[in-house]
Amino acid sequence: MSSTTDTSGSPGAGRATIAARTLRTDRWWLPPLATFVAFVAWVAYATVRAFMQQYYYVEEYGYLTPFYSPCVSVGCIPEASHFGQFTPDVWWLPYAAVSLPFLLLFRLTCYYYRKAYYRAFWLSPPACAVAEPHKRYTGETRFPLLLQNAHRYFFYIAGLITLINAYDAVAAFSKPGGGFGLGLGNIILVANVVLLFGYTLSCHSCRSVVGGRLNHFSKHPVRYKLWGWVSKLNTRHMAYAWATLASLALTDFYVMAVSAGWITDLRIVG
Ligand code: FES
Repeated sequence: MSSTTDTSGSPGAGRATIAARTLRTDRWWLPPLATFVAFVAWVAYATVRAFMQQYYYVEEYGYLTPFYSPCVSVGCIPEASHFGQFTPDVWWLPYAAVSLPFLLLFRLTCYYYRKAYYRAFWLSPPACAVAEPHKRYTGETRFPLLLQNAHRYFFYIAGLITLINAYDAVAAFSKPGGGFGLGLGNIILVANVVLLFGYTLSCHSCRSVVGGRLNHFSKHPVRYKLWGWVSKLNTRHMAYAWATLASLALTDFYVMAVSAGWITDLRIVG
């Protein structure tokens, strides 16, 4: 059976010969539409912020937005550069150019996001039991979708970047002028990092790295235990995917608002 007619996966089955695109009568189009709007809005916001090159650091309290972490451009405020400055200060290069492309690739190749944007952007298919408009289905067997298989490697890099975000959040408890400080910004930075760890550790590749390539769990009790924890997190991966989009945007907006002087940080200590 040709792949142009059979997308069911069962040999010889093909699609039912019904004229209607779908027989569903519920609002099946709502989830892909909501996903489309949310993704477009988020990417627009993140793009503007990544290239803005200002309002990314609160000098008084040491808050650094995750969109500028690590801040490695020679244009960065020196106190915001926890890991040195070595990229040129040009308008077309984000200050966190060493991390943002990998974070983007990590999310683009994420199993959950793939499902979400295949449905919302490529309508492939837009929902269960709704025919897709494409005539051919080649899966992820060719370039560029073949690159989705590199997700595991982006997971390793994203894990490293999450550790850097954690360092930023912990460093913000020491005020640049000296002494301990605690404000609403600290709480927001830490909450964002906790969610980022949830998203990263619940990754399907993480589950495979922790528990894969073993013949007998009984001979690897530690890995079995870890695999059990990661598996529990994994069941909430979709929730973490959305929660981290929200927390990243909120954290960045809060840092921008305080840095720009639109609001003052709610201080608890210092
Ligand atoms: Fe979503 Fe790995 S599967 S981040």
